[in-house]
Amino acid sequence: MEIGIIGAGTVAQAFSKKAIGAGHQVVLSNSGAPEKLAGVIGRLGSGASAAPAAIAAEKPIVLLAVPWPKVEAALHGLPAWRGQVLIDATNALRDGTPTQGLVDFHDGSSSEHVAALAPGARVVKAMNTLFMGNFAAEARDGRFRRAVLVSGDDHDAKSTVADLFESFGFAPIDLGSLKVGGRIQAVGGPIAGHDFFLPWPAPRAFPLSVERPEG
Ligand SMILES: NC(=O)c1ccc[n+]([C@@H]2O[C@H](COP(=O)([O-])OP(=O)(O)OC[C@H]3O[C@@H](n4cnc5c(N)ncnc54)[C@H](OP(=O)(O)O)[C@@H]3O)[C@@H](O)[C@H]2O)c1
Repeated sequence: MEIGIIGAGTVAQAFSKKAIGAGHQVVLSNSGAPEKLAGVIGRLGSGASAAPAAIAAEKPIVLLAVPWPKVEAALHGLPAWRGQVLIDATNALRDGTPTQGLVDFHDGSSSEHVAALAPGARVVKAMNTLFMGNFAAEARDGRFRRAVLVSGDDHDAKSTVADLFESFGFAPIDLGSLKVGGRIQAVGGPIAGHDFFLPWPAPRAFPLSVERPEG
């Protein structure tokens, strides 16, 4: 599968290594000329290429991996979204570092804000429980697999993302909606930074909802 990435830094590169290892192709982008990514692309090897963000954003699955202060600019001016899956890996850190704290979304979540900036995209929040050192490490550990929590409002999009992370070797877990699950796994939430493992093989922990059904 071809995956577009908006960003080419720590998260984009860790994700790319897993994706390429699983046989996918990645198209990375940055804020400048794609040629500036020649070194990164060379290190990632075949399976990786660089393109303007507008090209990366047309792939069926797109990873958003830019610092929070850059999110609006990164999503601005892209071609209209046509139902692609947009994986939101961002943390809503005011200045992109922990020093200035988090943006307050009151009853909402940062990923709902991302979804509002990308109308037509099917946004799924993922990767926020994992420090990149853990994400980059071996996903399989004996009888266990490292978990990736997946939150979103579109069931098919969540399944697509779950399948993707399963192809990397992770155990995907459905963590509810963008609003509730998104807040739980986001930085500042109760499970952000926690490294979960599931026994494997196991009945797929998907779909599993942390939310009580209406009514
Ligand atoms: N590091 C972690 O452990 C971790 C874990 C989970 C989530 N996150 C979150 O993931 C996001 C990315 O983190 P990171 O550590 O990968 O950041 P990073 O290493 O600083 O990389 C950021 C990337 O975003 C690109 N970028 C900036 N503005 C852009 C634009 N307008 N269009 C396209 N690309 C643009 C940068 O390209 P230029 O160099 O051209 O500006 C750079 O390649 C952040 O929101 C972070 O909080 C991080």
